[in-house]
Amino acid sequence: MRTLIAIVVALFCLAADAGAQVDCRAAPCTLREAADAAGVYVGSAASDSLIASDPDYGPALAREMNSVTHEVHLKWDATHPAPGVYTFDAADALVNFAETHGMRVRGHTLIWEQFLLDATPAYVTDITDADELRALMTEHIQTVVGRYRGRVETWDVVNEPLETGGTGLYQNVFYELLGPGYIAEALRIAHEADPDAHLIINDVLVSNDGPKFAALLQLAADLLAAGAPLHGVGIQGHFFLAPIPEQLQANIEKLVALGLSVEITELDILLRGPGDRAERLARQRADYRGVVGACMAVAGCRGVTTWGFTDRYTWIDSFLGPDFDPLLLDESYVAKPAYD
Ligand code: G3I
Repeated sequence: MRTLIAIVVALFCLAADAGAQVDCRAAPCTLREAADAAGVYVGSAASDSLIASDPDYGPALAREMNSVTHEVHLKWDATHPAPGVYTFDAADALVNFAETHGMRVRGHTLIWEQFLLDATPAYVTDITDADELRALMTEHIQTVVGRYRGRVETWDVVNEPLETGGTGLYQNVFYELLGPGYIAEALRIAHEADPDAHLIINDVLVSNDGPKFAALLQLAADLLAAGAPLHGVGIQGHFFLAPIPEQLQANIEKLVALGLSVEITELDILLRGPGDRAERLARQRADYRGVVGACMAVAGCRGVTTWGFTDRYTWIDSFLGPDFDPLLLDESYVAKPAYD
């Protein structure tokens, strides 16, 4: 028995030591090696279609990331395009890829309905009867979360529940028919469908010390007070042309103080400011360091997901135009200064 214990202890020490051996300052390592050694997630939004169409995409994704988020294919419009119709092939492909490569999957997202950019089909937003919508929301969450039970570790149960530029709850069809309690309802249904899943709400423009962050903090506190199974909050982190807010770390700390986990869930930082490209890449490096540093400084921050990982594929190109180059690898998958 003593021999067995000695062997187990030796193996544990070896494993622990192996983790500690990754010193990215002494010798270059991948983002994934650094994150694994630090015990945090480094992830990216991704698409199975790009894995299929670009031979460099999948290997780079698995090399650099230990977490993956479906950019589009786990949203309602992709998985449940019509009443009674579920289409999971694309979502399954990325989950299978993640499992093949030992990557954590973030489920994005169960409920996201807004006027301009969202992922809720018209057959849902056209509903006028509360009981009908409640039944459909219940079916959707039970079906999607149930399918990936034990395979999707975290769910963005409700994405962007607050007004984009305001502090109230977004008055989407769920709010209008089911009332503000729809968020707690969605959390409870998801928790029942997968009791082990980490359930969060995810919002944007909540990195500074403005009124919207205060509203998010209050929403989280209210959900906890109502006994809703809320485990964390996602801070999206789409940084356009302004400096990284100095309050980001304090915001993370305030959410963690509620007993919640935090993740930076959709980080991309546009090249900004005066100077030549080298100067702007250096500024982008400092900006990424600021955001990752704010997360790493707080024990309850689980990690960082960028919204894409190569400038070859970024939603910013279609949203704002080319050459903002917001990600860590350039269009040829070469690490930029921000990678470090
Ligand atoms: O795949 C179809 C293609 O077949 C069709 O030809 C084309 C034109 O209609 O559309 C393609 O689907 C697009 C999809 O991205 C894949 O490229 C959808 O129209 C388009 O609406 C969708 O945009 C996504 C958007 O969410 C809405 O789902 C973006 O890629 C994605 O980056 C963006 O991500 C959101 C997060 O989910 C929430 N936070 C904000 C973030 C940025 O908007």
